[in-house]
Amino acid sequence: MKADADQNLIVYFGGQYVPLREARVGILTHALHYGTGVFEGIRAYWDEAQQELFVLRPMEHYERWKQNCGVLRIKVPPSPAELCEITLELMRRNSLHTDAYVRPLAYKSAERVGVCTDDQDAFAVIAMPFGAYLPSDQGLHAGVSSWRRIEDNAIPPRAKICGAYVNSALASDEARQSGFDEAILLNERGQVAEGATCNLFMVRKGNLITPPMTENALEGITRDSVMELARRELGLQVVERPIGRSELYVCDELFFTGTAVGVAPVVRVDHRAVRDGAIGPLTREIRQLYFDASHGHVPDYFKWLVPVYKSLKSQRQDEGALLKANAS
Ligand SMILES: Cc1ncc(COP(=O)(O)O)c(C=O)c1O
Repeated sequence: MKADADQNLIVYFGGQYVPLREARVGILTHALHYGTGVFEGIRAYWDEAQQELFVLRPMEHYERWKQNCGVLRIKVPPSPAELCEITLELMRRNSLHTDAYVRPLAYKSAERVGVCTDDQDAFAVIAMPFGAYLPSDQGLHAGVSSWRRIEDNAIPPRAKICGAYVNSALASDEARQSGFDEAILLNERGQVAEGATCNLFMVRKGNLITPPMTENALEGITRDSVMELARRELGLQVVERPIGRSELYVCDELFFTGTAVGVAPVVRVDHRAVRDGAIGPLTREIRQLYFDASHGHVPDYFKWLVPVYKSLKSQRQDEGALLKANAS
């Protein structure tokens, strides 16, 4: 999905809440020429029954963003908690009552020619309505890309650096042109790194397997959530180890994880069916668990959610009162 935002959307830009049409940067902006920005992607899910919008793990996203900004020496003064507040305020000002996506972006903002960076930094936060990123309900067809994943010592893939996404864009474009839904990138050693915009998991012999970060993958927050759900709720063993290309062709189940894609089953790779070509049972279970946890259906995972319109704290108090009333 490509989301074209409404120009009246209120965004946080230059330290103020302004309509998107007024949030403009100059043509000589450093980041526009050299890719010297760092971004994040955060999801919020609307739960109809609770009439609530839940922002998913915003503190972890903002902590990662600030760390990643440090890689490019971009300063973002607000704390993660203050950035969460800005995010909630944006959602309220835009009256978002639907699934949404938050895009924080920090960048080198000097308007002059010259690749060397200086001290001029800026940041913005945009929150917009956003549905499914990939049509994954029936399972995706992924293709191994001819493009290799960028190396940590070239442009660190863990850092969500704007310029690094040329690598993802080339791979995604090639995949779409070849009729695939998403690309899988190998690293320079020929091992599986990740999808163009998501991490990758494989099921073999009942174990959940994913490449370690050292294979040049992003330290995904959804990856981390899925690992916790798989271990705690399904008692699965989660193994981080290298995956060879041909192992994708003989595995039992395969799925992508990411803020935008959620948990997205892969049912074909390079024109070969994954097992019988149907969504696998563990993938189905993990996808459902992730949906329930991210929509505020599972008290154990309220810790991941920040509600926009009602505090979960008061919800918990309501539940406590209800339990007491039922016990007496
Ligand atoms: C290249 C890449 N890998 C993995 C991910 C998944 O990371 P997360 O689950 O933190 O969104 C993303 C999305 O942000 C990504 O762009």
